[in-house]
Amino acid sequence: MCGIVGIVGKEPVAPLLVDALKRLEYRGYDSAGVATVDHGHMDRRRAEGKLINLEKRLKEEPLAGTIGIGHTRWATHGVPNEANAHPHFSGDVAIVHNGIIENFWELREELIADGYQFSSQTDTEVVAHLVSREIRNGAAPVEAAHNALKRLRGAFALAIMFRGDDNLIIGARNGPPLAVGHGDGEMYLGSDAIALAPFTDTITYLEDGDWAVVRRGEFAIYDMDGNPVHRAPQKSVGTAFLVDKGNHRHFMEKEIHEQPEVIAHTLSNYIDFSTMTIKPLKSKIDFSAINRLAISACGTAYYAGLISKYWFERFARLPVDIDIASEFRYREMPMAKGDAALFVSQSGETADTLASLRYCKNQGMTIGAIVNVRGSTIAREADAVFPTLAGPEIGVASTKAFTCQLSVLAALTLRAAEKRKTLSPEQVRVHVQALIEVPRIASQVLHLEDQITRVARELANVKHVLYLGRDTNFPLAMEGALKLKEISYIHAEGYAAGELKHGPIALIDENMPVIVIAPHDHIFEKTVSNMQEVAARGGKIILITDEKGARLSTVETMETIVLPDVPEFVAPIIYALPVQLLAYHTAVFMGTDVDQPRNLAKSVTVE
Ligand code: M6R
Repeated sequence: MCGIVGIVGKEPVAPLLVDALKRLEYRGYDSAGVATVDHGHMDRRRAEGKLINLEKRLKEEPLAGTIGIGHTRWATHGVPNEANAHPHFSGDVAIVHNGIIENFWELREELIADGYQFSSQTDTEVVAHLVSREIRNGAAPVEAAHNALKRLRGAFALAIMFRGDDNLIIGARNGPPLAVGHGDGEMYLGSDAIALAPFTDTITYLEDGDWAVVRRGEFAIYDMDGNPVHRAPQKSVGTAFLVDKGNHRHFMEKEIHEQPEVIAHTLSNYIDFSTMTIKPLKSKIDFSAINRLAISACGTAYYAGLISKYWFERFARLPVDIDIASEFRYREMPMAKGDAALFVSQSGETADTLASLRYCKNQGMTIGAIVNVRGSTIAREADAVFPTLAGPEIGVASTKAFTCQLSVLAALTLRAAEKRKTLSPEQVRVHVQALIEVPRIASQVLHLEDQITRVARELANVKHVLYLGRDTNFPLAMEGALKLKEISYIHAEGYAAGELKHGPIALIDENMPVIVIAPHDHIFEKTVSNMQEVAARGGKIILITDEKGARLSTVETMETIVLPDVPEFVAPIIYALPVQLLAYHTAVFMGTDVDQPRNLAKSVTVE
């Protein structure tokens, strides 16, 4: 997943392109580049690594021109170096690309046989050569691009520019998002509305199979057969200001600390405080009429969905089928027409989640989406959108989006329980009261940061960590392990505590810290037995629990982190915070790039 941008403007575009790329860096940061056309002359600057390297390059060797394209890369084909950085040139053609050209190998062979030489290992370069060959064979730029697009298979968002023409960019979309921004005598292309926010708040999203001819002050969209198509312009809600870290060292730290506020904000969208009930949902999903609920998502969003499976089944007696989206989309799961499916995604652009959504839509299911980015593709394609109001999440490791997803899923569970009459109105009120308390308790948990930092100092010295939990704390254990490995690069696994004896217990020795997430809940004693098994084998236990749990655990721990008492229903939201803080501080001790860890990107728009 990469970020792309194009501007047909009135002023020098290079600084504007870099500004837009800053907003797209969440999509990848392996390399970056821009190209411009100035009085017919086309040139580019590219740099390996973060955008700051490109900025330095441009300071040393500025680029003139009022038309240009830019790219920030997350490597798929070819290592992250300057040669593989976009834009790619061939003859009079410059190209930036987000996605994967699946038939690139066969196209590459064909182009090599035709005399084309490749200067990169990317799949993108074939597109540049294809367009260039069309021009060599006499096609005008627009026709050349259209002919080349018809040869491509796979996922792509593209911006194509031409030497000698300072009033033309071609955009194309098949899969990854691409939007046209409407300016005053200027036009833009960008991977999302946020990239274009400083320039315009009016955007038109291309749909799959669309391509656009963008010129200063005008644009037209066509389908692959070349027929003009109309796509309605929309007002974007992207903010023109780059979100900053405030007084925090990292966005992740800031986002962890924002949780009390954003959870409260999110809950206020779903809870009627005057009646202590869940607001009626203006949604096509009728929880009283469905027999099953399917849930699909990736990464942290998947763990939020997995926690909600326990909730929906326990409180609403609604069976839930859940799978990670990259499996779900190919599993050919039988679906009953009229049942509902929920998709959880911070970005609303994750390719596998989107593909799963489309699969369910084709099966005649009603689609609900829990998304943080309004206007995202998943939000636009769903029948019902349940927003998380977490605000922009910049750190690659998802934190506040996760607890807001849980808050929404908890509210939906209560709504379902009410509609299905599996909880009495009084029981619903008790659970709503528990939810309302979450922001206050979350702020108390943040006061434990010093103790958690001490534990993190120890974790920074180990090679492997095991997380254990039962019930809703099992998905949270997996989330803890994911968080730790993605930002500290320490190997970690999350296991169901009861499953330990079926294999992973062989890993336990005095060098293996075992983090046990165990509030004093209905299954606490079982977890204590599993802790005994770990202790008996010399494992070092870090217990995250409440006062009662600390008193009754009877197992010697390396450290016990004691959280305020919370009702079992909302415990996973509260217990997420120490898990996030542990990962964060461990990564800080390790000196890794917390907000932009290696090999990752915030938004994963390739499968
Ligand atoms: O934008 P999404 O919520 O769909 O993203 C899903 C995952 O890529 C994401 O949660 C990822 O696992 C995070 N880096 C985890 O911190």
